[in-house]
Amino acid sequence: MDFRGLVLLAPLTKGGNLPFRRLCLQHGCVVTMGEMAYAYQVVRRSKSELALLRKHPDESCFGAQIAASRAPDAITASLAAVERGATWVDLNCGCPIHDTVKRGMGATLLQRPAQLGKLVAEMVQAVPVPVTVKIRLGWTESEQNASEVAKAIEEAGAKAITVHGRTREQRYSRAADWDSIARIAAERTIPVIGNGDLLTWYETHERWQKSGVASVMIGRGALIKPWIFREIAEKKAWEPDARERLGVYHDLAQKMKTHFRDDEKGHERAMRFLPWHFEFFCRYRPLSAQRFVDSARQHPLMQTRFPDDEPGLSVLELLLRDVRPELHTKLAELLWAAPDVAVAEERALALAAEMPPIVGEAGEMATAHG
Ligand SMILES: Cc1cc2nc3c(=O)[nH]c(=O)nc-3n(C[C@H](O)[C@H](O)[C@H](O)COP(=O)(O)O)c2cc1C
Repeated sequence: MDFRGLVLLAPLTKGGNLPFRRLCLQHGCVVTMGEMAYAYQVVRRSKSELALLRKHPDESCFGAQIAASRAPDAITASLAAVERGATWVDLNCGCPIHDTVKRGMGATLLQRPAQLGKLVAEMVQAVPVPVTVKIRLGWTESEQNASEVAKAIEEAGAKAITVHGRTREQRYSRAADWDSIARIAAERTIPVIGNGDLLTWYETHERWQKSGVASVMIGRGALIKPWIFREIAEKKAWEPDARERLGVYHDLAQKMKTHFRDDEKGHERAMRFLPWHFEFFCRYRPLSAQRFVDSARQHPLMQTRFPDDEPGLSVLELLLRDVRPELHTKLAELLWAAPDVAVAEERALALAAEMPPIVGEAGEMATAHG
């Protein structure tokens, strides 16, 4: 496995469910990653945690991500991932949430680079596939130690490091710091994968080239537009209209049906995910290079407000931009039930008549999912 020259789908809890990953594959993604699984839960043979390590046969290059604080747990979980076909295993050292850090996992590991190095070395010794590590720049802005952490990880034998260019404390409040990502890439011999705020093909190529990273990783950009992978590969935007987007979302609903099964239980499980995806889908705006390339250089587009000021937007377009959770649930339901896109469109228009879309500001694109 060569970690150079790749565009990876980021590990995304909830978002990176198997049907969504299949949707990304359909739109040009080649390298996927699973949702973070807690190693101690895998050790206890938790069904739901083991399910996070599963890949689809179509995923030919799949990284399973685990969160662990102790080597025995990390190794057991990694081996369970390998048994299920993982191409490589990634150790999470960035998760900022309280439940994870209080157990000594996720971003907590950044605080003791030597200990982290030992953990990674033990994993490398025991796991028969490449081990990689995903880090942030540090715990807080004043405690940025990513250079030291990355050195320890390389010396421990990891095959690549992903750097998300923010600290644990920052969450998404600031733009990702690509200068720091570039510095770490220059300091290391193993491939560094740059991550943070890549929302368009042109931002991706510009940051990739300027920073000198080996590869790039896309998170929220893919949740907003799963077709970003094809755009990056082709260096060209695809700006689907509302009907075409509805087709993509209908495809996801059908993939959920296949995965979770088309029965009451499957429906219930799918509805834990499908409405949630609309929190991201509703943020889609065409960000043409012609109009936005200069502002993307000054400030990532992720941090910019885009008022819905375009005249003449169709009812369907307004509906798909609506941010109300109750509307997202209704959209998810109708996509699940509709046999094809034409019927889905008909029902979506009926929904728009029942719940007229609220036109307003798109909101701060960076605020969800701190
Ligand atoms: C909904 C959501 C879930 C995430 N879950 C994980 C996770 O399980 N493991 C992980 O390492 N990072 C996780 N992240 C962080 C992303 O992988 C990525 O590092 C971060 O979003 C920055 O990239 P982006 O600007 O392209 O979104 C998550 C992010 C989001 C938005």
